[in-house]
Amino acid sequence: MWKMLTVTMCVALLGCLQAQELQGHVSIILLGATGDLAKKYLWQGLFQLYLDEAGRGHSFSFHGAALTAPKQGQELMAKALESLSCPKDMEPSHCAEHKDQFLQLSRYHQLKTAEDYQALNKDIEAQLQPEGLREAGRIFYFSVPPFAYADIARNINSSCRPGPGAWLRVVLEKPFGHDHLSAQQLATELGSFFQEEEMYRVDHYLGKQAVAQILPFRDQNRKALDGLWNQHHVERVEIIMKETVDAEGV
Ligand SMILES: *[C@@H]1O[C@H](CO)[C@@H](O)[C@H](O)[C@H]1NC(C)=O
Repeated sequence: MWKMLTVTMCVALLGCLQAQELQGHVSIILLGATGDLAKKYLWQGLFQLYLDEAGRGHSFSFHGAALTAPKQGQELMAKALESLSCPKDMEPSHCAEHKDQFLQLSRYHQLKTAEDYQALNKDIEAQLQPEGLREAGRIFYFSVPPFAYADIARNINSSCRPGPGAWLRVVLEKPFGHDHLSAQQLATELGSFFQEEEMYRVDHYLGKQAVAQILPFRDQNRKALDGLWNQHHVERVEIIMKETVDAEGV
């Protein structure tokens, strides 16, 4: 299945097979694949990534994971993927083709027990082997509540690390713990399973307009602010956003 899709893509983008050999295969595992955030933003973001990157040398597969049983999880994930949209300037027929390819590269896994993680690992390896693909790395995106982090981290560390020469990256979404102490505990715990350079802590609120405007605001007001807004006077910038909505539907 996989080879066919690559070849179709490579006919359109000559020369990519060679680059692909150099750059290898990336597996992206979305934990919490049927939750709110995944439905609203993450699948669309991954699809965008696929559209942007697929011709540039990496090949991809996408693994949605959640606690939900396989059949039901598969259905929920399919629903989330139905609403993927393409950039406005893309022809509808192209869009349909890309969406179809993306769907074929995506599958659902129930991840609940240690055996489930071992099975995921086998599945990723099995996808690589027949095509002789070199594994570049694996990205685990944690779109789950923080109380689930440690258990998932333990399972990834013990069963889902890629072989030598391939990287592991874990993306951790906020909220990170529920107060200062629990955040510190979580950091210590995660630090026992992952290297610091393997962890990427992200906050999608940094993409919100008010926050995204901070730098342009500085730039537009250099005359008035430069004397104060600089490395000699500002130690750090803290952004506090109080929320009432928790992570739901995971
Ligand atoms: C991480 O996995 C390695 C290899 O399986 C294991 O030796 C190590 O004890 C694990 N780390 C923790 C904190 O469990």
